[in-house]
Amino acid sequence: MKINHQKESKFSEDHQGLSQGLRLSTKQKIWAIGGGKGGVGKSLITANTSICLALMGYKVVTIDLDLGGANLHTCLGVPIPEKTLTDYLTKKVRSLKDLLTPTAIPNLSIISGAQDELGIANLKQMQKNKILSKLGDLDADYILFDLGAGTSNNTLDFFISSDQGILTVLPEPTSIENTYRFIKAVYYRRLHMIEDLLDIQPIISKAMNSKLSGGNTPQDMVKRVIDINPEVGQKLQNEIKKFKPKLIMNQVRTQADIDIGFSMRTICKRYFGIELDYVGYLDYDSSVWQSVKKRRPLLMEFPNSKLVNNFDKIVHRLAGLR
Ligand SMILES: Nc1ncnc2c1ncn2[C@@H]1O[C@H](COP(=O)(O)OP(=O)(O)OP(=O)(O)O)[C@@H](O)[C@H]1O
Ligand SMILES: [Mg+2]
Repeated sequence: MKINHQKESKFSEDHQGLSQGLRLSTKQKIWAIGGGKGGVGKSLITANTSICLALMGYKVVTIDLDLGGANLHTCLGVPIPEKTLTDYLTKKVRSLKDLLTPTAIPNLSIISGAQDELGIANLKQMQKNKILSKLGDLDADYILFDLGAGTSNNTLDFFISSDQGILTVLPEPTSIENTYRFIKAVYYRRLHMIEDLLDIQPIISKAMNSKLSGGNTPQDMVKRVIDINPEVGQKLQNEIKKFKPKLIMNQVRTQADIDIGFSMRTICKRYFGIELDYVGYLDYDSSVWQSVKKRRPLLMEFPNSKLVNNFDKIVHRLAGLR
């Protein structure tokens, strides 16, 4: 394994402005792994990215925020943790620290989400804030969120509140469509937050309704805001440009599969006016299901799998080390 065991000395400063208000600590890095569709490898990627970071010497806490469908623990080879976020939100435990379950990998702990019979899949804003604002209590350099499928407000908000939102996609039309749907949902949720932040609702409504001039993409809408009010338009554009999701293409079998990521980047630029950062791909490999079947972490069980190299490249790129 080519993982560099040197700890990064300086944390890069690319916080997305909107996440700032919600959290106390800015020292930690929060990465959220999401994507519109189920079964595209979110948990696999969260688990193995966490392992890579831990092996590089960082302290890592990985949180299963697939509330209702928690299974990150399986990808990390631990039994379902006894205490979950529900215990924290219902005040059975006082601190997020009480929820930490160690894994077999030094430096890596997991916090489990909750089961949906407790109704926790519909967290209230206050409960989300209660989690986000206390992440600073955790002794971690990196906190990773494994998000559920779909575009529920909870999922979108955890994605937006992270420092890096990472999208997983498969080279299949349905998965690609769902990824665009997810990006669109995040885009509009952010837009509403920016509207509130800059107090520009009337201008946005005017631009949304003036469909006569120009096309009808989100990017065209921003151009119309700039026409109506250049100063506000510029601020809006600056805020929108901070949205730079990362993309991982999973289960690739051919060069054409790999190239889909580059096309998606071009489309996002043209349609949304955003930079999609294509950070790498993971080969389709039978070691994945074999490790899942054994309930063992892939990178530990199959250290010679070609996915080791794939993850090494992706994680270094995400950490800004390459
Ligand atoms: N690179 C890969 N090669 C082979 N199989 C893979 C690969 N990535 C994922 N899989 C298969 O896809 C399954 C689903 O992966 P995973 O559970 O990580 O997806 P998910 O997006 O978290 O799903 P959910 O939305 O249900 O939480 C894995 O159990 C594995 O069998
Ligand atoms: Mg999952």
